[in-house]
Amino acid sequence: MKTCAPGSVIGMLGGGQLGRMLALAAAQLGYHTHVYCPDEKNPAEQVTDRLSRNSYTDEAALVEFGKSVDVVTYEFENIPVETVELLQKHVPVFPSAKVLKVSQDRLREKDFLNGIGIETAPYAPVATVDEAAIALRDIGYPAVLKTRRFGYDGKGQAIVRQPTDLLDAWASLKSSEIIIEGFIPFDMEISVLAARGQDGEIRCFDPAENIHKNHILDLSIAPARIAPELRAEAIEIARRIVAELDYVGVLAVEFFVSGAAPVFRVNEIAPRVHNSGHWSIEACPTSQFEQHIRAICGLPLGDTTLYGRTEMKNLIGDDILDMESYLKDPAANFHHYGKKQAHPGRKMGHVTWVYPDAASWDD
Ligand SMILES: Nc1ncnc2c1ncn2[C@@H]1O[C@H](COP(=O)(O)OP(=O)(O)O)[C@@H](O)[C@H]1O
Ligand SMILES: [Mg+2]
Repeated sequence: MKTCAPGSVIGMLGGGQLGRMLALAAAQLGYHTHVYCPDEKNPAEQVTDRLSRNSYTDEAALVEFGKSVDVVTYEFENIPVETVELLQKHVPVFPSAKVLKVSQDRLREKDFLNGIGIETAPYAPVATVDEAAIALRDIGYPAVLKTRRFGYDGKGQAIVRQPTDLLDAWASLKSSEIIIEGFIPFDMEISVLAARGQDGEIRCFDPAENIHKNHILDLSIAPARIAPELRAEAIEIARRIVAELDYVGVLAVEFFVSGAAPVFRVNEIAPRVHNSGHWSIEACPTSQFEQHIRAICGLPLGDTTLYGRTEMKNLIGDDILDMESYLKDPAANFHHYGKKQAHPGRKMGHVTWVYPDAASWDD
């Protein structure tokens, strides 16, 4: 086990809002952060001790970075596996390159999940439109075409409702590394944030219920409005995933929940803190960000009990212009990511409300 004491430097690949909130949590525990990312302007820049603005393929810069920090983590999964493999030669990196490889490719991810007996949507990898047409005969309609890599917020996806949709859907993705998934008519989407320490201890946050708008997360509410035995089952699935991966850090598991069996299908996993866990900053003794820092630094994991029912709203694009009304709301915890330009679809901030007197949504 590699323990890093407060005062150590945490190296972080990526500098978006997740990196920003990780850096803030690291500072709370007495750590320094050194953000490594190619982006000109990034939300983590305001709050990190050091910043290296270099590409993920600049080997000399990566080695120098790796030698200057005590542990490395990342805040998004679209960094090359080779980057993590190179850094691992110089410094501990959590989560490992092995985990990154599984979770950045929708095919490997689904193969892994099904391999350990966890259900997903039916799926098939395809490389040509003809292969897609054949696969659709088994999977049926509607189905979703997804690029195996680099998708986020619904990007890199196209729905095929009927055979005549296929050509346009295929052309829109501009890729030959595609996975076809059966469309799941879910009743609800939930996610579980699971943390695993270097010593193998696992702690999960309560499942959150996630409501999307235009394929982007709009609202997360916790606890998810599901029966207690389903809550336990979702947590058990998340625990199995982090244990099987020998994972260190926080990982998000997204589920489709249906009334009919199988009740749970895992949609995807993310090897990092996640938008659907932002409420944990105010709603739990330990936030997902602090938990991740604790895990990668070899500290004991913290308590994840919910103080009460909670709601998190994403502020997307011009939603951020409502800032003043949120600031006037005594129950609102307002977060601004420090981004200057509010493009449509861009995550600009979020707001969390915690109702400590209400343990569940029935109260
Ligand atoms: N197979 C599917 N069946 C039903 N809905 C889906 C399916 N795949 C994706 N979706 C919907 O699209 C959203 C985004 O898809 P997801 O695979 O999570 O990609 P990402 O979050 O990386 O954009 C999901 O949260 C869900 O609402
Ligand atoms: Mg998703």
